[in-house]
Amino acid sequence: MKYAFPDNFWWGSASSALQTEGAREGETTWDYWFAREPNRFHNGVGPQQTSTFYQHWKTDIQLLKQLNHNSFRTSISWARLIPDGIGEVNPEAVDFYNQVIDELNEQGITPFITLFHFDMPMAMQDIGGWENRDVVDAYARYAQICFELFGDRVLHWFTFNEPIVPVEGGYLYDFHYPNVVDFQRAATVAYHTVLAHAKAVQAYRAGHYAGEIGIVLNLTPSYPRSQNPADVKAAHIADLMFNRSFLDPVLRGEYPADLVALLKSYDQLPACKPEDGFLIAEGKIDLLGVNYYQPRRVKCRDSAVNPQAPFMPEWFFDSYEMPGRKMNPYRGWEIYEPGIYDILVNLRDNYGNPRCFISENGMGVENEQRFIENGQINDRYRIDFISEHLSWLHKGISEGCNCLGYHMWTFIDNWSWCNAYKNRYGFIQLDLKTQQRTIKKSGEWFAATALNNSFDKE
Ligand code: BG6
Repeated sequence: MKYAFPDNFWWGSASSALQTEGAREGETTWDYWFAREPNRFHNGVGPQQTSTFYQHWKTDIQLLKQLNHNSFRTSISWARLIPDGIGEVNPEAVDFYNQVIDELNEQGITPFITLFHFDMPMAMQDIGGWENRDVVDAYARYAQICFELFGDRVLHWFTFNEPIVPVEGGYLYDFHYPNVVDFQRAATVAYHTVLAHAKAVQAYRAGHYAGEIGIVLNLTPSYPRSQNPADVKAAHIADLMFNRSFLDPVLRGEYPADLVALLKSYDQLPACKPEDGFLIAEGKIDLLGVNYYQPRRVKCRDSAVNPQAPFMPEWFFDSYEMPGRKMNPYRGWEIYEPGIYDILVNLRDNYGNPRCFISENGMGVENEQRFIENGQINDRYRIDFISEHLSWLHKGISEGCNCLGYHMWTFIDNWSWCNAYKNRYGFIQLDLKTQQRTIKKSGEWFAATALNNSFDKE
């Protein structure tokens, strides 16, 4: 069967500043943490050892062209642009981003730019990070500066990438700095992130720029183990905590009432100011980026909560390991292709069918060198992964979902936070020692799909 996509469908990939650029002066929380606890990073590889986009941006953009990308998302590093987060703008950073943006446009690759992809300037973390409302204001100023500097040539902006991840990693589950485990502080960080998002949207609207502004959320559809009311309730609460805590404010301009009531009943709500509600209502977006990697399967808890343990989302559910689920064993994530369709249908039916696109989807695999044939990685599994997801996305579009494109994570193998280079995601293989880039089979497949705006599958 032939799967054809609408005209002007966005074909591309996503990356982020910290994971690719290297060579940076402004310190981030990642540099600080790595200097103190290198053992937390796979093979002790830290955020300065990246795919050197800062040096190779021009030839890398040629590679994007070879992959027939018509669009590409990356982020601006707040710490590179404004090293202390709030003071002087670094003119070298302005030159760098100007060159990248201009070259992308010249090559016919539309730049999609994210303002914050997990990389908090250390100077901002030193004053409390997202727990401090001054950081919200500093971020709004940074966003405004970006719009003024680049808004004439960047027409697709994203305030945050996966804003729940720094909340989970930094304040609940100990996989990002500052390694706090405290739900109320996590809720404060999440809440202030939404305020920061809304302030950036407000600034963008006030500037009457030509483009559009949105956010990128990692949506993990919550599937209950069974239709037993206890399982269904568990899935509903997981959905409130992990999806709707960001989805509702940015699409509906308000939080779900049952999420607020739940946190209130456990005395976990962040401090709110009366004017916050108006600001959040102004943060409604033009375009939603959806990152989809895995579903979330849950069941009701099997055991009682330890009342001495810190309050956690898991007070309300257990993870459910569905027998027979398909796994990506390297990342430990389930692969469930229909999830992409369920997300789109939910957006269509419950959120007014917003303009959206798949902003990340991908498969990280370890030791891909074992698949080299005639000098090239033959990553058949990645082609299967993409084409299966695309067939479900296609079904969603054919049923009226407003999905405008598909971006993969990522174009060149890059540095993945604590996993460093353990799992490789790229269309292009990176030799870490020589920095040589070699297109994988999946890159060729994607280039052909993008060119034809379609692919064939049994
Ligand atoms: C997304 C992020 O969560 O998934 C990326 O936006 C990240 O920054 C990607 O690299 C893959 O996840 P991981 O943890 O394997 O790097």
